[in-house]
Amino acid sequence: MEMSRKGFVCGAAALIICAARPLVAAVADEDARIDALLAQMTLEEKIGQLWQTNGKPSQAIEAEDLSKDRSGDRFLADVRAGRYGSLIGRRGADGYNLLQRTAMEGRLGIPLLIGHDLIHSARTCFPIPLALSCSWEPELWRRIGEAIAVEALTLGCNWTFTPMSDISPDARWGRIAEGPGQDPYLASLLVPAMVKGLQGDDPADGRHIAACAKHYIGYGASTGGLDYYAVEMADGTLRDVYLPPFRAAVDAGVATVMPAFHSFNGVPCSMNRYLLTDILRGELGFDGLTISDYQAVDEMATGHGVAERGADVAAKALNAGMDMEMISDNYEKGLKAALASGRVKIETVDNAVRNILRVKFRFGLFDHPTVDVAALERTIDFPAHLALSREAARKSAVLLKNDGVLPLRPGVKVALVGDVADSVREMRGCWEHGDMSNITNTTLLAGLRADGVDVTYSSCYKLDGALDEAALRAAAADADVVVAAFGEYWGRSGENRSVTRIELAPVQLKVLETLKRAGRPVVAVVFGGRPLALPELDREANAVLMAWNPGGAGGWGVADVLTGLAEPYGRLTVDFPNATGECPKVYNRMTTGRPSEPTARWSTHYMDIPFTSVYPFGWGLTYTTFDYAGERVHADGDDMVFSVDVKNTGDRAGSEVVQVYVRDVVAATVRPRRELKGYARVWIEPGETKTVQIRVPKARLGYWVDGSYRVEAGEFKAWIAPHSDGGRELTFRLAEKEKEM
Ligand code: NOJ
Repeated sequence: MEMSRKGFVCGAAALIICAARPLVAAVADEDARIDALLAQMTLEEKIGQLWQTNGKPSQAIEAEDLSKDRSGDRFLADVRAGRYGSLIGRRGADGYNLLQRTAMEGRLGIPLLIGHDLIHSARTCFPIPLALSCSWEPELWRRIGEAIAVEALTLGCNWTFTPMSDISPDARWGRIAEGPGQDPYLASLLVPAMVKGLQGDDPADGRHIAACAKHYIGYGASTGGLDYYAVEMADGTLRDVYLPPFRAAVDAGVATVMPAFHSFNGVPCSMNRYLLTDILRGELGFDGLTISDYQAVDEMATGHGVAERGADVAAKALNAGMDMEMISDNYEKGLKAALASGRVKIETVDNAVRNILRVKFRFGLFDHPTVDVAALERTIDFPAHLALSREAARKSAVLLKNDGVLPLRPGVKVALVGDVADSVREMRGCWEHGDMSNITNTTLLAGLRADGVDVTYSSCYKLDGALDEAALRAAAADADVVVAAFGEYWGRSGENRSVTRIELAPVQLKVLETLKRAGRPVVAVVFGGRPLALPELDREANAVLMAWNPGGAGGWGVADVLTGLAEPYGRLTVDFPNATGECPKVYNRMTTGRPSEPTARWSTHYMDIPFTSVYPFGWGLTYTTFDYAGERVHADGDDMVFSVDVKNTGDRAGSEVVQVYVRDVVAATVRPRRELKGYARVWIEPGETKTVQIRVPKARLGYWVDGSYRVEAGEFKAWIAPHSDGGRELTFRLAEKEKEM
């Protein structure tokens, strides 16, 4: 059958005669449209679809190619020729439209996917994902996803490499900032919510973009918390801990998945057939496209040393299930040879192209390749996005300690100290690409002033450098309360920002000591993108608020919590260890033959620090107190129902996150001491008691053993608790018949 833009095509569904664009538009059914288009494509055009470039000469291409001009006219000619399926980097709306028009002028008129890392910010900057996870609020993630998507379109992006779905147990790993925390159950609620927000119910409605679940998989488990480093992982851990957020993303319809940089049990994720094909396609049923990480396909040769550049790399990656190569050009250079030698079958190429075209069709790019930015912008409520960012900052902050100094009393004289307290950049955190021109950005100083606090600011010290002790003493002497910034600069978290010290820098301990000697109450506001070891702050400060990198409206949001305009809302989604030496530290660690609670000579513990975390997973105070009573559990059909009476025993209203933890007591293999299985947020007025019921499907109580997911009969322990170290112990049994669930 002829394959020309004006000719005939034999699709799976029908024989259609028409010109190029009407041809595909006329085929209603997605698969039929894909097949119809595929049937017209030359091999070069197919290979083009498998390449994502940044439009610059790739570091991977050979020397003679480096002289070639891939910008300007030459670049557009390549786009028109269908040499690329996708571009990385934002181009601005005009650039986007030019590129899409150029692509559509090509022989077959195939639009481009244009992707960028809009992790927590397109134009409005929201808190970093780790901060957002502390809201424990999937709906907040969905709303932020919606805002990012529509703003992204105005920047010339129809795809973002978000959400990072990596479980992150290790505070040393800088990318913990980008993820949903350490718990698989909670992450499996947050990640799909972001996917839904970004992609919408109708991805082709002109307000949504393609999401990307990354980095598939086990990236957060890198040895020593070192970025890109090797991962060795048992199948049970993979499936019980690291896979659930990806499974949830796929169930939510995520369009794309990015395999990670590292090697997994000796095989780079980029060429790991077990992960990419057997599990992702076979078990999870993913039908979108896989995109490599940045040059990760090339790194199979240049770094991992498990393939030769060109045909060998191309064959290994594509055959494993990697559809699109980001930046490097092994597919472009090597696939023809791999096909000619029989190492790659044309059906494999076709399948990869199908996956890519499917996403392009699904997001309506063939029918609406360009964007009318002016019209779109008129429909975007930027002030509402800013308000959402402020709300998110309020909900992300976690009150770790409070002796009553917070909320700041009206009229109190505050000395605000520390360079970070008046820095917009430090609020925004890693991976911020915001267009700051028409979006307000705040600092903690601006936030406190906006909330009417009588505040005097002096920088006095840098987080990791000089301290002006005299200025600090003077600032404290002149105030009723000192609000001091602690933590890490934003540049210490994010990609390739692994560290061997999560303790506060020495200068900050000196600041703490100076302030204690000054005799004023100290409110420590901690900024940063990872859990930190804060035993000194916990001991010495009067209050500690974890503010993270709270985003462009973070100054307002954090001030709102300090002043009590907003009730503290966040709960930790990661443990805060005593010292770096404990990392990775997770609340859901495996039980041992010498259990660690309470600390005894022959139990599992370190000699020089307490076994419990300074602040455990789930921890977070409010401006009131809650009493738990009458904890009980009963079975109801397919569910276990956990109930507790929670009384607000303070004099302010507040919201409590009631958490259910479970342990399988007699299991086939060793199980975690506790696992989060459900939670509920409840708002309670002073003096009021609410009965909270949390239903947990029995099917959620299983785990991966002997090659399948199994819920075991027998005894379980449970805790209905305000955090992962709390609660009274309950027991229940699952009957024999539950065994085969
Ligand atoms: C490398 C990072 O690992 C990944 O998260 C990101 O999406 C790509 N670079 C593209 O920028």
